[in-house]
Amino acid sequence: MEKDYTKYFKGPSLKEAKHRGKEEVKILKDEFVIPDTMKNIGAGKTYYIKTYGCQANERDSETMRGILESMGYQETKEMDQADVVLLNTCAIRENAELKVFGKIGDLKRIKRDRPDMIFGMCGCMAQEEEVIARLLQKHPHTDLIFGTHNIHRLPELLHEAMMSKEMVIEVWSKEGDIVENVPASRENPLKAWVNIMYGCDKFCTYCIVPYTRGKERSRLPKDILHEVEELKASGYKEITLLGQNVNSYGKDFKDAYSFADLMRDVAKTGIDRIRFTTSHPWDFTDEMIDVIAKYENIMPFVHLPVQSGNDEVLKLMGRKYNAASYKALFDKIKAKIPHVSVSTDIIVGFPNETAEQFEDTLKMVEYCQYDNAYTFIYSPRAGTPAAKMEDNIDLKVKEERLQRLNETVNRYSLAQNKKYLGQIVKVLVEGYSKKGNDMLMGYTDTQKLVNFSGDPKYIGEIVEVEITDAKTWSLNGKICE
Ligand code: 5AD
Ligand code: SF4
Repeated sequence: MEKDYTKYFKGPSLKEAKHRGKEEVKILKDEFVIPDTMKNIGAGKTYYIKTYGCQANERDSETMRGILESMGYQETKEMDQADVVLLNTCAIRENAELKVFGKIGDLKRIKRDRPDMIFGMCGCMAQEEEVIARLLQKHPHTDLIFGTHNIHRLPELLHEAMMSKEMVIEVWSKEGDIVENVPASRENPLKAWVNIMYGCDKFCTYCIVPYTRGKERSRLPKDILHEVEELKASGYKEITLLGQNVNSYGKDFKDAYSFADLMRDVAKTGIDRIRFTTSHPWDFTDEMIDVIAKYENIMPFVHLPVQSGNDEVLKLMGRKYNAASYKALFDKIKAKIPHVSVSTDIIVGFPNETAEQFEDTLKMVEYCQYDNAYTFIYSPRAGTPAAKMEDNIDLKVKEERLQRLNETVNRYSLAQNKKYLGQIVKVLVEGYSKKGNDMLMGYTDTQKLVNFSGDPKYIGEIVEVEITDAKTWSLNGKICE
């Protein structure tokens, strides 16, 4: 029996979040306001945001930074010193959640010394009723909890948290409308995330995202294009179009306008580099492949999560493709997009995955020879269909499978990187490399990290680099002058 915590407090409900209504999504242009009482409240004060999880969260944190900075707050990198601390959380796997609970424990000590500090938790974990119940019971030093659908209400919510002795909780189970014109303070001066849609309707059986991020809803093309034009005008060289499944973009519009149409229009803005993530292999269209192949400023890199190489497991996962159709798509992408690199996500240890089924996943990796793969042990998420499946496979077995998978994946990553030896590639120079010695770093159009020697005057430019060494996760080189 699933527990229903909603009778204890006004918070989220995963059951309600599952529901997909037919109501039309409204685009709200004037919804974000900073009340007069809060306009300068942050003057002389600092904030600290810790972001967990995916790019959607990274982008949401940039929105929160923008909102807080509009209220006068300045960012600090010292959590202990901050006046406002926000943890923007991820619910995708249990270990992501455990990390957050560790941090919440650290904050207990800090709040004891500095009781005026406001500590807020937001992001995907805030959408889960079990998490909120646990915070209420065990972590009463939490001042504020808000979810993924009401970030624009941060000024009012902060005000309430400052005034109230009680924990302030505002989480909407059902997604709201699309709120435009919310400020953002971006982390990177060259590369920007651009949301093109919110939510996911795929309901893969293991995944919590359709519950925490709500139903699919697309931003209007003209709002996206305007944002890209502005980014270009202020010196950005690269944008990444973001959605849980970008292929679904526009399916909620009355007039036909697809992700391929959007990519074409974004390409025509002339911004130097366009990326996109993530694409579900089920609804990746031929038109998308043609557009990526046609425009030089759409980068030849596709993240195509396979999850498993076995048809029965894929069926249980609710992925709507099989190994053969995935391979056919993969082959088409490789054949039509010159020099394309492909990465993937893989889950091992889905409930009752057999040794043979796992072998099919290894075979898929051998077939595709991915440039990169993010690999995970399946983690049951309360409220999802897979979490109800009985599972008789030992964790030790799952760990062994992950290890074997990683060895295979790494072997191919290195082999793919070695193909670059002696080549001259285009790199957007982002800054100094973590390697030190005044080395620079940046990414190729195919999303390969390159550390290279060269003059720092090139930071911010796209330059040619000769590749001199290839490792599993990066390339080394020297700038061509
Ligand atoms: N357990 C393990 N991995 C998961 N992912 C999503 N949900 C789970 C889960 N419950 C992985 C998928 C997805 C990536 C973002 O995270 O591989 O593509
Ligand atoms: Fe989760 Fe599947 Fe949606 Fe990706 S497509 S966010 S894995 S439900």
